[in-house]
Amino acid sequence: MSGVVIVNTTPYEGQKPGTSGLRKKVKVFLQENYTENFIQSILDANKDAIVGSTLVVGGDGRYLLKEVVDKIIKISAGNGVAKLLVGQNGILSTPAVSCIIRKYKTLGGIVLTASHNPGGIDNDFGIKFNCSNGGPAPDATTNDIYKLTTTIKQYKIANNITCPIDKIGVHTFNVEDRQFTVEVIDSVQDYVDYMKEIFDFPKIKSLLQGSAQGKPFNVLIDSMNGVTGPYVKRVFVDELGASEKNVRRVVPLEDFGGAHPDPNLTYAADLVEAVKNGDYDFGAAFDGDGDRNMIIGRGAFFVTPSDSLAVLANHLDCIPYFKSTGVRGFARSMPTAAAVDRVAAAVGKEIFEVPTGWKYFGNLMDAGRLSLCGEESFGTGSDHVREKDGMWAALAWLSVIANTAQSVEQILMDHWAKFGRNYFTRYDYEECASDPCNEMMQVLERRITEAGFVGSSHSAAGKTYVVKLADNFSYMDPIDQSVSMKQGLRIIFEDGSRIVLRLSGTGSSGATVRLYIDSYEATDVQGDAQVMLRPLIEVALQISQLQKYTGRDAPTVIT
Ligand code: G6P
Ligand code: ZN
Repeated sequence: MSGVVIVNTTPYEGQKPGTSGLRKKVKVFLQENYTENFIQSILDANKDAIVGSTLVVGGDGRYLLKEVVDKIIKISAGNGVAKLLVGQNGILSTPAVSCIIRKYKTLGGIVLTASHNPGGIDNDFGIKFNCSNGGPAPDATTNDIYKLTTTIKQYKIANNITCPIDKIGVHTFNVEDRQFTVEVIDSVQDYVDYMKEIFDFPKIKSLLQGSAQGKPFNVLIDSMNGVTGPYVKRVFVDELGASEKNVRRVVPLEDFGGAHPDPNLTYAADLVEAVKNGDYDFGAAFDGDGDRNMIIGRGAFFVTPSDSLAVLANHLDCIPYFKSTGVRGFARSMPTAAAVDRVAAAVGKEIFEVPTGWKYFGNLMDAGRLSLCGEESFGTGSDHVREKDGMWAALAWLSVIANTAQSVEQILMDHWAKFGRNYFTRYDYEECASDPCNEMMQVLERRITEAGFVGSSHSAAGKTYVVKLADNFSYMDPIDQSVSMKQGLRIIFEDGSRIVLRLSGTGSSGATVRLYIDSYEATDVQGDAQVMLRPLIEVALQISQLQKYTGRDAPTVIT
């Protein structure tokens, strides 16, 4: 029998979960009791329900994962949790955690990831709590967790429990006369079973193998050494008959092999090169924890996440899941280009604009008002789970391609011809000094909300924009009426073009400034985004004085 020890501790500052959980450098988590304090606070935030509960635990394979899983096992046992479902070796993708929470109706789950941030001893780790709907905890819960971290005095731990998480099976322990169970589960099985229900696998298989159109449809799927490796192998190789040549970087590594596991044109540049130079019809990459995706077509034709959302919205009839559930509304985050809004208007569906962060979609889905949503930050997903889902997005695209028998590029050309095009770009200025960036946001907010700003004209490169609306975006959740303030500065012009500026909530040090530019063209749809958007970018740099405050001449990343 194992005993429970109560360990005295003192609070750490700064354990406030950001856009997506607590993310810090590994070395911060390694401080004495730092991780224990946060885990205990998560359990305490659920204290009415924690005794006798079941939780899911897993993460993206990054450095420190196994040690933290071990701590969660011991602290959960110490707090009367009845059962943990743990991915083998701690491996579970973020969408898989969401799927498993929902399937087994657990109280929630703890996701161990810093998503697309680099891993390894000198890089990032993260802990996030997901609720019983499978989605990231809402602000009210993360605020509770944070408050508890500021006053924590003790945590409860069953130190004697050691569980071999490399062995699939049920491991039971006796903790002070209560039974405590750790079920180590196959990391991919539940998720893959679910994908087979959602999509028409035989149809996608015949697309890939060429039995439908003759020529095989050649894909290249890149897991970026992140958690999706085993999922990609099981789905694409075992189920869909692709060969090992169609997949790359499919072994999860603790430091992602030194890669920055973020699927965009900068960090997935070698996938882009491989597709550009090889005989590939389709490329997809996923981030460290498997919720983000990037889609490219033959010749590395890039699909912006905002367009990806709009195209899928217009083709949901290609996916069996939506035939049975029906299609409810659509949603996007505020900085995401408004392409999907036009599809919603055309097909007569509700459209919601929420703050950045997947957690804002959950209530709408739970209330049966939202089927498909996405964010410019390479997130796409549906109400099949309550996280965005990288592999789901790739399978959704392949379903559209299999049904339309068109290339990725043709699908986009048709879409723009019908709906017009939202040119979009995002400039990131990473790891800037925090104080001047905060000052920049304050100064800019004051300026754009002053009398006279609405109606003012701004010119660059021969174009003039007149301000129609400017504010710091706030959102009232239509389901529970909760309000989220100060979600990003937006300037909307008479012609519908938008400039959005906000500070990232997912970085682990310093400040990352994000500048988003969205401009709609009804007929001039075949231009280069960077060229088309240059005047508006100039205007944004003038108004924000971004170069002065960040000290940067150019962004770190352009997407
Ligand atoms: C994570 C969240 C997303 C969010 C993104 C960017 O991936 O799950 O919902 O859009 O981070 O957040 P940030 O605050 O860094 O712009
Ligand atoms: Zn992620």
